[in-house]
Amino acid sequence: MVLVADGADQDLTDEVFSLFHGGIVQVVGEVCGGVVVEWTAKSGPVRRPRCPASHSRRTGGRASSMSASVARMPELIAPTDQLHSSWLAARDEWPPGAHHDGAGLRLAPDADLENPEDFAEWVRRLKQQSDTSVAVGEGRVHATHWWIVEDDSYLGAIDLRHYLNAFLLDVGGHIGYSIRPTFRRRGLATWALGTVLPEARALGLDRVLVTCDDDNIGSVRTIEHNGGVLEDVRTTEGGDKRRYWITL
Ligand SMILES: CC(C)(COP(=O)(O)OP(=O)(O)OC[C@H]1O[C@@H](n2cnc3c(N)ncnc32)[C@H](O)[C@@H]1OP(=O)(O)O)[C@@H](O)C(=O)NCCC(=O)NCCS
Repeated sequence: MVLVADGADQDLTDEVFSLFHGGIVQVVGEVCGGVVVEWTAKSGPVRRPRCPASHSRRTGGRASSMSASVARMPELIAPTDQLHSSWLAARDEWPPGAHHDGAGLRLAPDADLENPEDFAEWVRRLKQQSDTSVAVGEGRVHATHWWIVEDDSYLGAIDLRHYLNAFLLDVGGHIGYSIRPTFRRRGLATWALGTVLPEARALGLDRVLVTCDDDNIGSVRTIEHNGGVLEDVRTTEGGDKRRYWITL
């Protein structure tokens, strides 16, 4: 697919393209002062993303004018037990017992997540972790969890830890994320991290630490595409970690 834009639209298209990194953006019309774009993933079906309002930091506010004009796009939502079957289907794409970065599975250590009641309880705990009026467990910090979804399909998770403890400063960082295996390499992690950055700023943070395994090239690129500046590579209890700071 070609990139189609001219005149003033070119700047906007370039910005949209960088937001939906990994896909191809085509301007297909104008509605209500905004432009309608189509986005084609590197592989997979055509998507029609809108730019969430939270992207306005990177688009000078123009993105929000597009949001009403297009439909079907990945979005971040609060965890919900309504997506139980989709979550299970995603989980089944991972090796049994795999760690899902940023998914908050540690909040359900003994749960049978096939069981709707256990699943709903886990979802409740995920949502509660952002409630600063509720104390968090030993070694934990308050955090906000989002699911990356499209058309009621669970595609991945991302979380934002509100502050760092010693472990997070060394190993885990402020933000963790994972994408279900069949939806990788379509720009989703890059998009999700970019979407959460304004949320971090809204919390009062002026920079965030994002870490990854030294050999995790997909995460390295995700972080660097979002402006991560490498502080160091350290040997930690969690292995060799690249530690990046992103200024908000
Ligand atoms: C790492 C992970 C989040 C990347 O998600 P994703 O949605 O595939 O990432 P994106 O599509 O946004 O890709 C970002 C960049 O990494 C590249 N990339 C992604 N996976 C890659 C891989 N396995 N090998 C090489 N490059 C890869 C992409 O090509 C893109 O780079 P480019 O635009 O320069 O070509 C995903 O592989 C995952 O969930 N892994 C398991 C959990 C994890 O490692 N989480 C991160 C912990 S810090």
